[in-house]
Amino acid sequence: MTAKRTSIHGQWSSRWAFILAATGSAVGLGNIWRFPYLAGENGGGAFVLVYLVCVVLVGIPIMMAEILLGRRGRQSPINTMDSLAAEEGLSRHWHLLGWMGVVAGFIILSYYSVIAGWTLAYIFRTGAGAFVDADAAFSKQMFTELISDPERLLAWHTIFIVMSVVIVSRGVKSGLERAVKFLMPALLILLLVMVGYAMSTERFMDGITYLFVPDFEQLADKNFFADILLPALGQAFFSLSIGMGAIMIYGSYLSQKSSITFNCFSIAIADTSVALLAGVAIFPIVFTYGLEPAGGPGLIFITLPIAFGQMPFGTFFGTLFFILLLFAAWTSSISLLEPAVTWLVENRNMSRVKATTIAGVIAWLLGLVTVLSFNHWAFSFSFAGVIKENGLFDIFDILTSNILLPIGGLLVAIFAAWLMSRSSTVDELGLGDSTAYQAWRFAVRYVAPFGVIVIFLNAIGVFKLLGFVE
Ligand code: PHE
Repeated sequence: MTAKRTSIHGQWSSRWAFILAATGSAVGLGNIWRFPYLAGENGGGAFVLVYLVCVVLVGIPIMMAEILLGRRGRQSPINTMDSLAAEEGLSRHWHLLGWMGVVAGFIILSYYSVIAGWTLAYIFRTGAGAFVDADAAFSKQMFTELISDPERLLAWHTIFIVMSVVIVSRGVKSGLERAVKFLMPALLILLLVMVGYAMSTERFMDGITYLFVPDFEQLADKNFFADILLPALGQAFFSLSIGMGAIMIYGSYLSQKSSITFNCFSIAIADTSVALLAGVAIFPIVFTYGLEPAGGPGLIFITLPIAFGQMPFGTFFGTLFFILLLFAAWTSSISLLEPAVTWLVENRNMSRVKATTIAGVIAWLLGLVTVLSFNHWAFSFSFAGVIKENGLFDIFDILTSNILLPIGGLLVAIFAAWLMSRSSTVDELGLGDSTAYQAWRFAVRYVAPFGVIVIFLNAIGVFKLLGFVE
């Protein structure tokens, strides 16, 4: 057993603090904005089913592995991989895994911030009563107006990046725990209010059927691996915040006594519940008001305001909803910045404030690409059988969630289950050599890597080229 390290960046104050912070990282725009629109683009029920399978078989085991590595290394993901590789007698090149995560984090944050900016704009719009009695056409028009104006997008994007820099520069723990403790339950309650409204709409059952009953006929002209599995796998990584070091760095602040297994299941259950509730709230509105399920990234910003315009106290609930969504995005953006910031503090001897400011400026600059993707630079292409209309934004999104995060997760799985000594992982997970440990090891050693590789190879058509399929 190696001596246990402590992190120079501090530790969570209690076991709950870690669960709260990691849930804060996991629950965000990914659940409420991205999950419904991807489900709508990729065939509803079939996508949701495959997504759930990916969370259980690939997501949770890799999340446990990533937290385990973080807690054992106790540094930024780059230095953690470096020292763990040295400890296990492996190549130092493993720190490149940390670097890949940092790059993915910047790209994700750059567009995440623009979407969080839409949320900011919608707090004010909804608060001003703009959506009272709104119909679908009006709501669509409001959304189009917003995204076609790069200056407005830029202003909101800037505000969000500044918000993220301010909180990260003060250190992860101050404020974060308290914020998540109250705001997450509040978000959940508000989602339930919206599900209540959805239940009152004419086509509630159509929404539920769409979301939970796979329609295999609709899949006939789709390539199951590339069109359904790959986006679902990517969403599992994105939503659980795994594959880029975010959950690894949070693991590095986790006390040695806390159970990684219990933590991971709690986080995954909370994360999945929020995503499913968001879907249940949104699709009945989509059908009742004659909107397209495949409405793309604007889906929640078009559907939800209609609901707020119709329901009693809609202006109040709507404003509160967008405020809570903003907080959820905020607590996620913190974990996107943290791996890069900790590295700058460790290796460049910078103050946290300076490190965060530099990282924030990089993400802000990169965000300009997304700002322009919705207007001046917009172009269309087809991916996974879906027409994507927002050029570079879509490319950033596909590159990170469908490629970089799964590769990061695959490498984490290989490192933890194939290269690290068995005794190190037994020691770190604290499950002994029990059935639970063996189940985890089997999942990380075989199921998760195999799943990611098979989906990848199929998606890029290798099997087709090799003649394995048809
Ligand atoms: N999981 C966050 C969300 O669902 C996004 C995120 C991805 C955060 C990757 C950190 C790392 O909104």
